[in-house]
Amino acid sequence: MGKLLIAYFSGTGNTAYVASLLGQRLSSSFEVVLREMTEVTEDDVGKADCLGLGFPVHAFNAPEVFYRWVKGLKNVRGKKVFAFSTSGEGLRQNDVPFSYLAALLKRKGAVLISARRYVMPYDIIFRVEEAMASTMVRYAGLLSAYQAAEIARMEEFAVPRNTLRRIVSFLFRIEWPYARFQGKRMKVDENGCSRCGLCASNCPVGNIRLEEGKVVFSRKCTMCMRCVMNCPRDCIRLFLLDSWRVNGSYDYRKLANGDYPFPCLSRKTKHAWLYYSYYRDLDELLGRY
Ligand SMILES: Cc1cc2nc3c(=O)[nH]c(=O)nc-3n(C[C@H](O)[C@H](O)[C@H](O)COP(=O)(O)O)c2cc1C
Ligand code: SF4
Ligand code: SF4
Repeated sequence: MGKLLIAYFSGTGNTAYVASLLGQRLSSSFEVVLREMTEVTEDDVGKADCLGLGFPVHAFNAPEVFYRWVKGLKNVRGKKVFAFSTSGEGLRQNDVPFSYLAALLKRKGAVLISARRYVMPYDIIFRVEEAMASTMVRYAGLLSAYQAAEIARMEEFAVPRNTLRRIVSFLFRIEWPYARFQGKRMKVDENGCSRCGLCASNCPVGNIRLEEGKVVFSRKCTMCMRCVMNCPRDCIRLFLLDSWRVNGSYDYRKLANGDYPFPCLSRKTKHAWLYYSYYRDLDELLGRY
């Protein structure tokens, strides 16, 4: 049985959830190791016969830390690699990071065998209503089965290219320096904060520390939203984007098994336009119609 390493970056859990779905689906064909990107060693990569790479879409790109990590990958020549991403809305613009990733991997001599994007409940801008969030999580279950079968075939995968969309995504990389700028300017509501230290210990890039009982931010933020979403007192303030703050993680188990109709997407769904074409294309891919 070949070894599969699934390495992912996940700020608030969506990409980690999809990584675990894929891990479960592929465990009959591979010996699967699931790892957060920051914990992967060169040895892990060297030992793997196949590699899965996952990331959340940030401003129509992958987070800068993710691209940087992929650029630093060694020992991938000739390896089969698949990619998965999660995004909060369906727009095709969100697929552009796959074409950057495919180009990076090609330069390293790796062979891309699948790239699929999963729409999952937003971790910024607005909280997705439970019924719609349940539809997203349940579709993710279906798509992971489809992608696992695609991966098992081990055939080369071509990522569609669109020059205009690539330019738009490139311009949105302004988010990278903005994240560092905002990171330093995030604030904590001192009256609400219990100094529990959760935000500091969980930040994937070490942007937060507790100093003399106060939460202090620096300039390394990648805007993953983990601290904001998981603060038990909801007391982290997002500088200019504070009205986009979403607090409280989604309960995937409940959403996957809950009593919501499936699919629940209709013209009455809040922000339905963000999802319509994605789910129409997905239904076609999955052969649901
Ligand atoms: C800074 C930031 C930018 C985002 N930009 C986009 C985007 O351009 N398009 C989109 O569909 N979702 C966007 N999202 C939503 C995330 O892609 C989505 O919630 C994702 O599933 C989060 O994955 P994670 O929980 O693994 O971090 C953004 C989220 C953040 C925090
Ligand atoms: S997680 Fe919230 S309550 Fe805990 S130290 Fe950080 S800001 Fe304060
Ligand atoms: S400071 Fe918060 S949003 Fe920024 S990288 Fe750390 S956990 Fe993520």
